[in-house]
Amino acid sequence: TGTATPRHFLDIRDCSAETIRQILEVSSKVKALQNGRRRPLHPERPLEGHTLGLMLAQPSTRTRVSFEVGMGQLGGLVSVLSPSDMQLGRGESVADTARVLSRFLDVIVLRTSDDSALRELAKWSTIPVINGLTPVSHPIQILADVLTFEEHRGPIRGKTLAWIGDGNNVATSLIEMAALLGFNVRLATPEGFEPSAEAVTWARDRGAKIDVLRNPAEAVSGADAVLTDTWVSMADKDAEERLQCFRPYQVDAALMSKAAPDALFLHCLPAHIGEEVTSGVFESPASVVFDEAENRLHTQKGLLLWALGRENG
Ligand code: CP
Ligand code: NVA
Repeated sequence: TGTATPRHFLDIRDCSAETIRQILEVSSKVKALQNGRRRPLHPERPLEGHTLGLMLAQPSTRTRVSFEVGMGQLGGLVSVLSPSDMQLGRGESVADTARVLSRFLDVIVLRTSDDSALRELAKWSTIPVINGLTPVSHPIQILADVLTFEEHRGPIRGKTLAWIGDGNNVATSLIEMAALLGFNVRLATPEGFEPSAEAVTWARDRGAKIDVLRNPAEAVSGADAVLTDTWVSMADKDAEERLQCFRPYQVDAALMSKAAPDALFLHCLPAHIGEEVTSGVFESPASVVFDEAENRLHTQKGLLLWALGRENG
């Protein structure tokens, strides 16, 4: 053994719809167990003896805590690694780091400002590597977004999600997910901040309906959910210019009123109230942002069980 390709989770587009559905199903199952308040949560400790390396080169609240807590609940251990404290920070190669960590750990999560470092880590790693966010994509976030939407509104197939603001890493993963699960995405962005043309083409080639628009009202019109994200991502250096360009893209009550009457508001968080969203919308009954944040825990657990081949219990 040892020759099988590890179950990396680098991008939504690398997965089949079946894999995504499998991960979401396991996530719902472990969530149901927790909502039943049974203790211990997982008496069978399915990941006992397994260790997750959590390598976060950038700040994180949700990703870090949900992986640490989730792995613990499944009976596994977590080694939190700050790349700047590793020899990686003094020039040890990603290839050697991957081969060494593969001898110690069972699965790695990497958040990095360098997308190519993630690809390099996965190339050399003989254990699964999970993308914990890069400037290019944020696939684990969209697992939680789909779970949240479907818990509130049923099957996402055929629904229309509006994305307002920056065509960023989260938007890219949303577009890819639309192609796998058969929902529509309408994006409205300022000029120069459109989503990855390559991701849009990839999704359209697979039959997805992706509209890249300029006008937020047009994107939101009749939509089943409205999503946004920060105007200044961790990798962005042009904060001043962005805050100017994005001003007409705030999600406020007037914009939400153009969506379907029961439209949900989602945001991956952290939020910047008064920038991409008003406090009125953020705190409104349409807003399911804290369900979405909680679902990060359940989807990390589903993902870890899948990555380690324990999706069937
Ligand atoms: N949404 C998200 O990934 O949050 P963190 O940056 O806190 O992990
Ligand atoms: N687009 C944001 C998401 C944070 C979870 C960023 O990359 O900073």
